[in-house]
Amino acid sequence: MALTGYVPLLVLILITGCAARPLYPLPSKLNEKNRLPLQTFRPYNIAHRGSNGELPEETSAAYLRAIEEGADFIETDILSSKDGVLICFHDVTLDDTTDVAEHKEFANRKRTYEVQGENVTGFFSVDFTLKELKTLRVKQRYSFRDQQYNGKFPIITFEEYIAIALDAPRVVGIYPEIKNPVFINQQVKWPHGKRFEDKFVEMLQKYGYKGSYMSEDWLKQPAFIQSFAPTSLVYISNQTDLPKIFLIDDVTIPTQDTNQSYWEITSDAYLAYIKDYVVGIGPWKDTVVPVKNNYLQTPTDLVAKAHAHNLQVHPYTYRNENLFLHFNFHQDPYQEYEYWLNYIGVDGLFTDFTGSLHDFQQWTSPTGAKDNETASKLLHKIASLIASYKG
Ligand SMILES: *[C@@H]1O[C@H](CO)[C@@H](O)[C@H](O)[C@H]1NC(C)=O
Ligand SMILES: *[C@@H]1O[C@H](CO)[C@@H](O)[C@H](O)[C@H]1NC(C)=O
Ligand SMILES: *[C@@H]1O[C@H](CO)[C@@H](O)[C@H](O)[C@H]1NC(C)=O
Ligand SMILES: *[C@@H]1O[C@H](CO)[C@@H](O)[C@H](O)[C@H]1NC(C)=O
Repeated sequence: MALTGYVPLLVLILITGCAARPLYPLPSKLNEKNRLPLQTFRPYNIAHRGSNGELPEETSAAYLRAIEEGADFIETDILSSKDGVLICFHDVTLDDTTDVAEHKEFANRKRTYEVQGENVTGFFSVDFTLKELKTLRVKQRYSFRDQQYNGKFPIITFEEYIAIALDAPRVVGIYPEIKNPVFINQQVKWPHGKRFEDKFVEMLQKYGYKGSYMSEDWLKQPAFIQSFAPTSLVYISNQTDLPKIFLIDDVTIPTQDTNQSYWEITSDAYLAYIKDYVVGIGPWKDTVVPVKNNYLQTPTDLVAKAHAHNLQVHPYTYRNENLFLHFNFHQDPYQEYEYWLNYIGVDGLFTDFTGSLHDFQQWTSPTGAKDNETASKLLHKIASLIASYKG
């Protein structure tokens, strides 16, 4: 190739002051400036384990589908392999959502461990190296969902999940959970006495995730860190100012690390304490609005209480199937979204069906309309500036 071919490129790089950038940036970085930003004017569409209503959970396919369908955030659970590699996987055992049972070479790996006060038996991810985990294939958790993708997709690592978000054609946030930290820290040891939480934060920092909620850095690469374990959230508060969400389980389940009851952690006193560390809570929706005989009861004051402490509320999990829809919604998931968004007034929703939530929000609170609103406000401002200049 002629030398002259290089010169303009070099000049261009110097002129635009991008010398620090690689000559051939990754596709994901190429059009960074043109990427559609994260919408922040309406409640967040959080793709729970990807579009797992359609595709096996926490696989690259499920996340890509969620991005295609309009997710604001793709959600995942972080666990560890035996050799300390952080992976995206929900259960501590591989039994329910992989084909591990068909792998004769692993038949002797079945174990029983105490996890959160219960003896659990199965094939644990912490007894498999990443290389071994990669030989497994993920399958649908629920028999009534599409089974045709079973056996097609591998477990992915935290790193691969981050790459999916960063390569998205618009800004898509991540929403990883520090999953079962008490158990993981018992089972897996990292060099230099590092804890699971340290490795978790290191991975986010490696890929440039930083900044407090709504900061410039955060808007470039949005992330929420979630956990049911308050100790983990407090522990990492020294290491990252990324926004954190405190997950809250059913009313009968104490916290896994501090053994506190539901009532204690939803008290005003506790919310006043935890708000120094988190920007919101992630409660199970049936605790926000209790259910009896599959009918909604009077909503609790949890959302009002959280909002009074300036905490966001991101309940889980919204699912389209009749099995999960309370009778009040007449088997219509849009009615459920209408109720939670416009009556209860939550700030984000974990959904198994990102496409449905996105459609609902586009119909009722479209991004285009907001753009138009912003644009017309800007035009008015310009017009008034010109008018005053003329005058
Ligand atoms: C789990 O099993 C062990 C061994 O059988 C037993 O000692 C322990 O009490 C069990 N733990 C629970 C929580 O049931
Ligand atoms: C944060 O770091 C300081 C100084 O290293 C330490 O004293 C403090 O206990 C840490 N806080 C938490 C919550 O880990
Ligand atoms: C957790 O708290 C409950 C209720 O206070 C108590 O009965 C139980 O023994 C505690 N469990 C642990 C592991 O401390
Ligand atoms: C914005 O408003 C114009 C004029 O009212 C309309 O024609 C256009 O379709 C709107 N754009 C969007 C994205 O809603």
